[in-house]
Amino acid sequence: MNQASPASSEAATDTPPIVDKGADKAADTVADTEKTTHFGFEQVPEAEKVQRVRQVFDSVASNYDLMNDLMSLGIHRLWKRFTIDLAGVHPGWKILDLAGGTGDLAAAFAPLVAPEGEVILSDINAAMLQEGRNRLINKGLTQGLNYVQANAEALPFASHHFNLVTMAFGLRNVTNKQAALESIFRVLKPGGRLLVLEFSEVKLPVLKQMYDLYSFQILPRLGEMVAKDAESYRYLAESIRMHPNQETLKQMMEQAGFERCSYHNLTGGVVALHSGYKF
Ligand SMILES: C[S@@+](CC[C@H](N)C(=O)[O-])C[C@H]1O[C@@H](n2cnc3c(N)ncnc32)[C@H](O)[C@@H]1O
Repeated sequence: MNQASPASSEAATDTPPIVDKGADKAADTVADTEKTTHFGFEQVPEAEKVQRVRQVFDSVASNYDLMNDLMSLGIHRLWKRFTIDLAGVHPGWKILDLAGGTGDLAAAFAPLVAPEGEVILSDINAAMLQEGRNRLINKGLTQGLNYVQANAEALPFASHHFNLVTMAFGLRNVTNKQAALESIFRVLKPGGRLLVLEFSEVKLPVLKQMYDLYSFQILPRLGEMVAKDAESYRYLAESIRMHPNQETLKQMMEQAGFERCSYHNLTGGVVALHSGYKF
């Protein structure tokens, strides 16, 4: 078990450590050595994608929050606010914030489920999870929060456990998205809901042109200037273009067993929030 060091010495006493549920092992088992997949616009073996995605998030972890605000001009906060409002969280719920990174959603959910509920901030990447844990501790959030390093494709949780699973800007990085959706379906309780917030297909032609220019010309330069890492931000732009569009993702959710699937386009389809229930 990989126990991460706490953000401060006081926090060590009452804050759970990051529990490594074999994210690396699961990634190796799940990846098919023969098959290839896309990493941005490149075609790579499935097992290599997991490593490359890890390198990206290892590299961006320490600047992630700053870059998120800069890249989206703060709009990611509104997309997440919409997600939190739509989730309609109740006290006592058990929530999994998957690919949760630095924990924006987990931080909002923790007070809403208190005092009996539980929020698990989970991510495949130890560096991102460490940033998230430190950040939540520094906000004074400890009650009902746990941290689990895990691969979304092979979730290490009991079946029928969570009322809500959220995944914000994580699914497009997952090698086998269908396996992840099926794994999420398994861990949800009957009546439980999945919310996937993710970049999607821009629906307004004028916005699309500006967005392409921004993503491929400005974003890598911003990454170079602020985080000294143009490559990772080039990958982020490319991975958005390779992600299934609104209707395709809805169909994939239905195929995984979700019902009453729907989506909201936000900012003209730059981002979509997909919702589906397990009955
Ligand atoms: C763009 S960040 C999103 C973080 C956070 N949810 C947010 O909205 O700010 C994407 C996250 O997905 C995680 N990730 C990538 N592949 C994953 C997988 N197979 N299972 C779980 N998390 C994964 C990355 O480590 C990264 O922290």
